[in-house]
Amino acid sequence: MTRIEWQDSMHALQSGPMDAAHQEFVALTNALADAPDGEELARLTQLFVHCKDHFAQEKTWMETSRMPGIDNHLRDHEGVLTLLESAAADLRGGQHGAGRDAAESLAAWFGQHAATLDAALAFHMQQVAHAGNSGIPAVG
Ligand SMILES: [Fe+2]
Ligand SMILES: [Fe+2]
Repeated sequence: MTRIEWQDSMHALQSGPMDAAHQEFVALTNALADAPDGEELARLTQLFVHCKDHFAQEKTWMETSRMPGIDNHLRDHEGVLTLLESAAADLRGGQHGAGRDAAESLAAWFGQHAATLDAALAFHMQQVAHAGNSGIPAVG
């Protein structure tokens, strides 16, 4: 099974709370990738709960920092939740391996998502914070 190896040089976005959420995502995805049949659904559920919170937090950051063009990012998050819901349904139907397959897909997804959409969000929040220090009202 493909596991995500966290690397600061590749994954850290210099945003403390976002980096913490991403490290938790990596740990839970790897735990699902390594899950024995009997624990797949429980570990997938943990990852789903994490993703709901993680994505809701990022949405709040996008909104409070008034980031333009967020629809693509939100759609990408929705795609992950749909993938996990579908895998959960397969597991409930007795299809062992569906959770591990989802973890494999998410390992590939995460590198791309973090390096593009999340990196853009982290950069935007840094710019807004900087603008705020310059007296330009940017965070509402
Ligand atoms: Fe993220
Ligand atoms: Fe994101």
